[in-house]
Amino acid sequence: MTMLLRGGRVIDPSQKIDDILDVLIEGGKIAAVGRNLVDDGKGKKKDMGLTVLDLKGKLVVPGLIDIHTHLREPGYEYKETVESGCEAAVAGGFTSIACMPNTNPVNDNRSVTEFILRQARKANLANVYPIAAISKGSEGKMLSEYGDLKEAGAAGFSDDGRPVMHAGLMKRALEYAHSLELPIVAHCEELQLSKWGLMNEGLSSTELGMPGIPTISEDIMVMRDILIAEYVGTSVHICHVSSAGAVRIIRQARERGVKVTAETAPHYLLLNDEALKGFETAYKVNPPLRSAEDVAAVRAGLRDGTIEVIACDHAPHSSIEKEVEFEYAASGMVGLETSLGLCWKLVEEGLLTPSELIARMTVNAARVLRIPGGTLKKGADADVTVIDPKRAWAVDIRKFRSKSRNSPFDGWKLPAKAVLTIVGGDIKYSEL
Ligand code: DOR
Ligand code: ZN
Repeated sequence: MTMLLRGGRVIDPSQKIDDILDVLIEGGKIAAVGRNLVDDGKGKKKDMGLTVLDLKGKLVVPGLIDIHTHLREPGYEYKETVESGCEAAVAGGFTSIACMPNTNPVNDNRSVTEFILRQARKANLANVYPIAAISKGSEGKMLSEYGDLKEAGAAGFSDDGRPVMHAGLMKRALEYAHSLELPIVAHCEELQLSKWGLMNEGLSSTELGMPGIPTISEDIMVMRDILIAEYVGTSVHICHVSSAGAVRIIRQARERGVKVTAETAPHYLLLNDEALKGFETAYKVNPPLRSAEDVAAVRAGLRDGTIEVIACDHAPHSSIEKEVEFEYAASGMVGLETSLGLCWKLVEEGLLTPSELIARMTVNAARVLRIPGGTLKKGADADVTVIDPKRAWAVDIRKFRSKSRNSPFDGWKLPAKAVLTIVGGDIKYSEL
């Protein structure tokens, strides 16, 4: 199909474009970005089999990429399947997602990686990049088979959900991943410091009488992984940064030339630990919501580029796991369908320009994970997201495409929405 996206504001940070332009899609690829790309004669358009979408007032951006999603299949299909997760992705404007390996069985071998890719092909919605486990069973004892996993299609390695406590194993993981040119994605948490904890350690946890998870449990592992990566001479990607200390450590490491990249999630930018006052399990997440000072530091890190990616950490859980006492509730929040709208609040507040936000959700994400996409360059796959920056809407968890409803943002009024999601030249979601 040939498609013309006409007259929208094209924001493509990968090419430093921010202008009113047309985008022409042919054969599933970006054919051109420019002015008045196709003649206006109506009959002519029809003859050419051209679909024209008038996008005046809309933003046309490279398809959003989420590098931190939990799809739960195989093993926890009642929370999410590859298909339902992809439905949620395209509804939220995401054309590519990378999924974490904490499934059952864990994605630590080629048959699981191949299975996920097969399910993704069947779903035929978003591009799916499986991240395989750093260690067998994510148990932190033996490395999984990296060469085999790469051949099967793994996009990187992580034991996300659990930290790699064994520093020697992390060193070997970084060495092997480096030789295969795949990223290590680190969930940073020192378990001796965080165990028994239910929320951020600080004034709020003292007031509520809940055992705390101190920021130092995150900071110390961010520091460790940076030092190991520096020693090995490779890069490391830090997941879901939530603390002021982690931001400072990453900033300082980058200043001395260490190849460390980092992501944070919308909830670490918009919520703090005071939200836990009602003991609502929707706010339970790991790392936990931190103090207002930490939130300010994470925002500053996002602003100055220390944190170059916003990822959802979409972590679906069913009511069985969430509608229980706080202590027993699972950690995590869904995010794919709310991320863009939530992040647009940062644009409205003036923390980021539209182009800076889109960079953190597209080209930077692709670069960190070394996957294709994140650009409207000629010849690239036509993965495109159209955003209505004036479409205010209220989050209604009952309307989620995701199988799970565990969002703390139910009822929030959000300022903008993805209204069209195109993957490989095909429309996968539209509410134009
Ligand atoms: O809150 C979280 N939920 N943090 C993680 O690291 C894992 C995730 C999950 O898998 O539910
Ligand atoms: Zn994690």
